[in-house]
Amino acid sequence: MTTFDQNALFQAACAARTHAYAPYSGFRVGAALLCEDGRIFTGCNVENAAYPLCTCAERTALCTAVSQGARRFLAIAIAGGTDEDCTQPCAPCGGCRQNLAEFCGADFPVLLSDGIHPLGELLPGVFRLPQD
Ligand code: THU
Repeated sequence: MTTFDQNALFQAACAARTHAYAPYSGFRVGAALLCEDGRIFTGCNVENAAYPLCTCAERTALCTAVSQGARRFLAIAIAGGTDEDCTQPCAPCGGCRQNLAEFCGADFPVLLSDGIHPLGELLPGVFRLPQD
């Protein structure tokens, strides 16, 4: 597994969380996505009065990165919850796991407050289209 500054990446997720717009759930999430070239793209959850339109922090970070030309990632950190210091691990939802799997392999490190969880363990049996 690639080495990276876990504390710095988790702190970047915590900082991104301060921008969360979560007036409906009160559940604030931040994500920080580390690219192979060293860039870090962050995101927060952005809720909407039409609840299904809420966007998760991880997807915000991923879409921001891809829309700026980044597709190769080393790790993601996720910080969330209702407590201010984010000590409870905030596991990514199933949809975000699938979104990450579009660009990241089974060894991809998902860093939560309780440590690293490889994406392949979080999402066994990932959906992929059949190859030719
Ligand atoms: N949320 C995320 O940002 N990421 C996840 O992986 C799970 C859930 C957000 C969506 C919603 O704004 C709030 O947390 C409660 O579900």
